[in-house]
This record gives sequence, structure tokens and C-alpha cells, in this order.
Amino acid sequence: MGRNIVTPNIDSIVSLAKRRGIIFPGSDIYGGLGNTWDYGPLGVELKNNVKQYWWKSMVQQNSNIYGMDSSILMNPKVWEVSGHTNNFSDPLSECKVCHSRYRSDELIDPTKCLKCEGPLTPERQFNLMFKTFVGPLEDEAAQIWLRPETAQGIFINFKNIVNSMHPKLPFGIAQIGKSFRNEITPGNFIYKTREFEQMEMEFFVSPDTDAEWYEYWVNTRFNWYSSIGIREQNLRLREHSQKELAHYAKATKDIEFLFPWGWGELEGIANRTDFDLSTHDNGSEGDLKYFDQIRQDHYFPYVIEPAAGVDRTVLALLLDAYDEEPLNNEKNEVRSVLKLHPKMSPITVAILPLSRNDLLVPKSKTLFERLQNQFKCSYDDAQSIGKRYRRQDEIGTPLCVTIDFETVNTDDAVTVRHRDTMEQERIPSDNLVQYIQDQLDLYV
Ligand code: GAP
Repeated sequence: MGRNIVTPNIDSIVSLAKRRGIIFPGSDIYGGLGNTWDYGPLGVELKNNVKQYWWKSMVQQNSNIYGMDSSILMNPKVWEVSGHTNNFSDPLSECKVCHSRYRSDELIDPTKCLKCEGPLTPERQFNLMFKTFVGPLEDEAAQIWLRPETAQGIFINFKNIVNSMHPKLPFGIAQIGKSFRNEITPGNFIYKTREFEQMEMEFFVSPDTDAEWYEYWVNTRFNWYSSIGIREQNLRLREHSQKELAHYAKATKDIEFLFPWGWGELEGIANRTDFDLSTHDNGSEGDLKYFDQIRQDHYFPYVIEPAAGVDRTVLALLLDAYDEEPLNNEKNEVRSVLKLHPKMSPITVAILPLSRNDLLVPKSKTLFERLQNQFKCSYDDAQSIGKRYRRQDEIGTPLCVTIDFETVNTDDAVTVRHRDTMEQERIPSDNLVQYIQDQLDLYV
């Protein structure tokens, strides 16, 4: 799969995403709501492919990893005990006039507001968790938080899973879901938003094996990004310095992607030790020790946590796959193409009747229905065949199938057009399903 090494401009991706029904700006018809984004028909397919493949490779292909889906709303004590109420914050100065808030590195003059030049308060800690209220009264007793990570929903269900599934160490608990952070500086499209989705897995191990499992998950997760088609040249591992480590972590490595603005985190793999289980054990009425039958001992397992972002993975896929290629034709056209791995492409096969002629439509519809049972298909008969190929290139459809007059009048064969090479082959329609499957199997 040859690719140019273009570093796409983020604006080209934002514009393609809107034009092609992948991602739209949030609340558009009301003038928008800063840094919110809505996934369109093709974007939700792409995002679902990321989530389903993660679920398959983490939960379904590992008999010792259990899936779950916890509530977004939790007892506020969860966040007190986990340390988020005190530690999950950024130091900011606030303007006394317009209440804009700033990090010190954003300010030119630490005493003056950038917007209205009003006086600023000294730096204070602002919690990044979104506050909300349960029930009709906005009083302290009813105040809760939207979860800033999915991980705590796993820790507080540790005993439920042990008691119901009887797992033996090492074992994992995984979930995918929305998290919310009142980020001070959101931006860069879907890279940093206040509402986003995470894919997190807590892998519980006996305390003397944490170092080897940590390395195992760092490598396994790094390879996962290659397996969804992201080129290794755009991926790297970065170890956190002692100063940078979160309050719960003994060691952390980030998997980073080379975004147009520089390297940025896709996923962090952390050794959280027994911090979470022991603090929840202390702070709650639950007994979160694990009984090891072989050792005949009760103890808190250590936790290795690979924590990934769905939206950041979607963005990395779009950026890595985007290419602009000169077509070397009379008009000097350039085609935009998303060279996505077929397992990530929103559509796998597009069925394109050459025209809306009555002879071609029934054959095309029959083929569409047959292929739809096995592949993600779309049917497109609008505009010229050239324009339709361009449209499918822009959304990353690896194969297009064209039905023409020869198909119905002569040979019952169709033209299969390949996204990456633009080569075309004539394939008997009876062999089409097998042919498509063979083509998809060629992608590693
Ligand atoms: N439980 C650990 C945890 O939440 P994190 O590094 O804060 O760790 C994990 O978050 C992943 O979630 C990040 O690597 C990133 O992909 C994603 N993420 C975090 N904050 C985000 C934000 N504001 N917008 C989009 N994705 C975010």
C-alpha cells in the first residue's frame, strides 16, 4: 500500500470530515458550542470499528478479560477516595471582571486579563471534573460529578466481578464509555474535548509480577495501533518522568502519534500498583482484597492499566490515512484519499451502477443485497462514475464494484476498482464474494 508522506493540514481533515458526513461541529445551527463535535453517518461507523476492534482484541480474544459497562454517575465518595476531588485540577488565575481563566504560561502579563485587561486573582487550583446535581435541589448534599475516567467504575465493581465470575489472577476488566473533563485548553479538533470516549482495561496481577505485565501491555498496545493500519513512523513510546507521573502511578508510558502540531498522547499504560483497590477498601465498606487460593493469602492485586482515547484514535487514523495524489490528467486534478485499513473503513464495498438505466438497476440491487450480508456496503448511483470513485476515495472505501452494460448483456462480470492503486479488474459476478474476501485478506 504505497503512500505519500504528506503531513495533512488539520483544516483539510476538518473540512473533509464535514463534507463527507464523518464529523460535524456540535450545535451547528445554534452557532455552535466550542469544542464539541458530532459524529455523522460515516464517522460513527469509523468510531464503532475502532471500539469493536478494541473490544474484540481485548475482551473477546482473551478468556481472562471481562467486559463491563458502569454508570457515568457515581457516589461522590468514589472521587474523594480516588484522589480526583483533591488532585484532578489545574492551577489557574481568574479575571475579577469577566471571569476568564488562564494558565500562567498563556499570560503575557500575569496581572492582566487577556480579554478585558481586568485584574487577575493569584493562581488557584480549579477542578477539572464537571459538577452536576441529582434531584431538583442544587444543594451540597445532592452534588455529584460526571466521571472524568471510566477506570473508577471498574475498581468499584472489582468485588462484584470476583464474586460472580470467579476469575484467577492475572485477569482484566475492560470498558468503553464517555468521560467528561472541563479542560482549560480544549482544541485541535477532536484531540482534546470536554466530552470524549475512553477504552480502558484494568489488568489485575499478583504484586511481584507487575513489572513484566507492564512491559507486556506496553508492547501489546503499541502493536495494536499498527494492526489498525497506523504507520510505525507516526508512532512512538514515551516514558513519563517521575515529576510527570499521576498521583496513583509507579510508572507510565504513553503511546504517541505524530499529529500536525507535534507528538501527542493516544494512550497511556500505567502501573497503578494497589493504589486504587487499597484506597477504595479503606474509604468504603467493601472488602477489596483478593483471596489467592494457591498462596492461601488475602492481598490487594497490582493493576496495569492501558487507557486509550477513542476520539484520538479516530483522529490519528484520519491523519495517517489521508493522502493527496496528482492524477496526471489533462486538468491536473489531485485526488484526496483516505488509505484506511479496510477493517477501519466506514464502507468496505461500494456498488456503483454505471447509470440509472433500467437494465443495470435490478442487477446492481441484487448484487448489493448479496454483498451486504457479508460486507459493509453502500449503493451510489448519483453523478458520473469518476465523481463517485473520488467520493469513495475520500471516505476510504477500499473496493468499488461497477455494473455496466457488458455485465447484463454479455459476460455477467463486474469491474472491481481498487482505491489505493486505482487499478481495475473484471471479475465474474459469481466469484465476487470470494474475490472481495481474498482482497481484504491481503491487508495485514
Ligand atoms: N484512567 C486513566 C486515564 O484516564 P488519561 O491519560 O487521563 O488516563 C486516557 O486518559 C486517554 O483518554 C488519553 O490517552 C486520551 O487518549 C484520552 N483523553 C484524555 N483526555 C481527553 C480529552 N480531553 N479529549 C479527548 N481524549 C482524551
